[in-house]
Amino acid sequence: MFQERVLSGMRATGSLHLGHYHGVLKNWVGLQAEYPCFFFVADWHALTTHYESPEVIERSVWDMLVDWLAAGVDPAQSTLFIQSRVPEHAELFLLLSMGTPLGWLERVPTYKDQIEKMRDKDLSTYGFLGYPLLQAADILIYRAAHVPVGEDQVPHIEITREIARRFNYLYGREPGFSEKAQEAAKKLGGKRTKLYLELRNAYQEQGDESALESARALLAESQSLSLGDRERLFGYLEGVRKIILPEPQALLTAASRMPGLDGQKMSKSYGNTISLREDRQSIEKKIRTMPTDPARVRRHDPGNPEKCPVWQLHLVYSDEATRTWVDKGCRAASIGCLECKQPVVESILTEQQPMLARAQKYMDDPSLLRAIVADGCDKARKAAQETMREVREALGLTYS
Ligand code: TRP
Ligand code: SF4
Repeated sequence: MFQERVLSGMRATGSLHLGHYHGVLKNWVGLQAEYPCFFFVADWHALTTHYESPEVIERSVWDMLVDWLAAGVDPAQSTLFIQSRVPEHAELFLLLSMGTPLGWLERVPTYKDQIEKMRDKDLSTYGFLGYPLLQAADILIYRAAHVPVGEDQVPHIEITREIARRFNYLYGREPGFSEKAQEAAKKLGGKRTKLYLELRNAYQEQGDESALESARALLAESQSLSLGDRERLFGYLEGVRKIILPEPQALLTAASRMPGLDGQKMSKSYGNTISLREDRQSIEKKIRTMPTDPARVRRHDPGNPEKCPVWQLHLVYSDEATRTWVDKGCRAASIGCLECKQPVVESILTEQQPMLARAQKYMDDPSLLRAIVADGCDKARKAAQETMREVREALGLTYS
C-alpha cells in the first residue's frame, strides 16, 4: 500500500536551540508514528545563502542530525538523510526549471524579503532565485502528501503545487490514455472497479467533491496497483492526464512562541538562544543573567511579571501552582528574581535530560550516526529514483 508520506527539511546553518525543539522537532516526533516520514538536512539550500562560507554547513550537518535524534526523532520510524546525497533532487530541479516562469520565482514573497533582510550577503544569484524550485523538487520527488512547515514557508508549498500542476498538465499526456486508464481500473477488481467508475462519473458529471475524495481514498488503499496505473487512475479521476507529481499540502506547525532570553522570539539572529544540548553551567548562567522587570531594582521592590521575560518562560515551563507562586511573589516582592528563575532552570534541565542521554549514544559512537544516515540516504534515493523514472519517461528522456 502506498501510504501518504510526510516530508520536511531543515537548512544546515548552525546548531539547534530550544525554539527549534518546541517549534519543529516535537511536531516531527509526533508525526513519525502516523506517517512514513522523510526528514532531511537541506545542505544545498543552506548553500544558497552561505556559498561564501560552506564550512558553516559542513560543521552543522552532523550536529543537526544528532539534535534531531536527541529530540526523539526515531530512525526506526523516520527516514533521515542529507539532500546532497540524493543527487536526483538536482535532476528534478533542473527538469522543472525548464518550464518554470521566472515571474513565479520573482513573486515569491520570501524572495525580496530575504534579500532585504540579509543585506550583508549578495543574494542576487541564480541559485537563490531558484530556492523555492529546489524546495519543490525536494517535495515532489517523494510525492509527499504533507509538508510540516511554519507559516513563513506556505508560499513555497503554494508554488510547489503550481509547479506540480503545470508538470502534470504538460507531461501527463499519454497516447491511448483513456484506454489505459480503463484497463487500470479493471485491475482494481470487481466491486472496486465499479465503485471507482461511479465515483468518477459523480465527480465529472455533477462536480461531486466528496465523490472525488472517496475515489482518491479508494485508490490510496489499493494494494496492487503499479506506479504507472496509480498515476493514470488519479489523473483519470479529474480529467485525462496522469498525475505524475501529486500536489502536496502544507501541514502548518502551530506557531510556537518560544521566548528567548530577552523576551523576543528565540532566534539565532537575536543572540537570545539556549541550544538543545547546552551544558548545565551555561544554562544556569544565561538564566541567572536574564533581564527582569526593571522596576525590581532591589529585592523589596515589587514587580510585574507581565513586564518580565522570565515570566514568558514560566508560561512555557511551569505548572499552575508555580505560576501562582511567581505572580504573587513578584507583585508582593516576597520572592527574589533569582529564586523565581530557579524552577525555570530546573525545568529546562529536566527537559534536556532524555535528549542528552539519546545524544550521548551517538557522541560515544559516531559510526552509529553515520550508519543511520547512510541507510536513510539509500531509502530516500530508492524512492527518488522511482519518481525520476516516471519523470524521465514522461519527458521522453528514456530513449529506449
Ligand atoms: N525552506 C525550508 C526552511 O527554510 C527548508 C526546506 C528545504 C524544506 N527544502 C524543504 C522544508 C522541503 C520542507 C520541505 O525552513
Ligand atoms: Fe521576573 Fe520573577 Fe523577578 Fe518578577 S520575580 S521580575 S517575574 S524574575
